[in-house]
Amino acid sequence: MAPAYSEKVLDHFRNPRNVGELKDPDGVGVEGNPVCGDLMEIHIKVEDDRITDIRFKTFGCGSAIATSSMVTELAKGKTLDEALEITRQTVADELDGLPEQKMHCSNLAADALHRAIEDYRRKQAGDSTDT
Ligand code: FES
Repeated sequence: MAPAYSEKVLDHFRNPRNVGELKDPDGVGVEGNPVCGDLMEIHIKVEDDRITDIRFKTFGCGSAIATSSMVTELAKGKTLDEALEITRQTVADELDGLPEQKMHCSNLAADALHRAIEDYRRKQAGDSTDT
């Protein structure tokens, strides 16, 4: 039987939010999915410890596109600590669920976001030791 996708998944797949890249991003996160080989990249802009802008590019399936789109919506405007609390389960729940066989696709978005935040913090730490 074909997996059933929620309306929210279909909506984010058809009209993904925040697609693309940012000029001079403060943090970049790239994550690959070992299950299928798909890839996703997230760019963030940070001001006062808060994500002010975010974009994604996903070379992956429809579920990966929908979860990436949802993750950008969830993360925008959040503090870095709040954004780090976004997990694959949060994303799947916000999309009203994903078919069991597509749950692995939601790893990409949450993990790429966490990597972008780590990248930003690493750069900040590097900057402060330079002075
Ligand atoms: Fe690769 Fe969904 S099949 S991310």
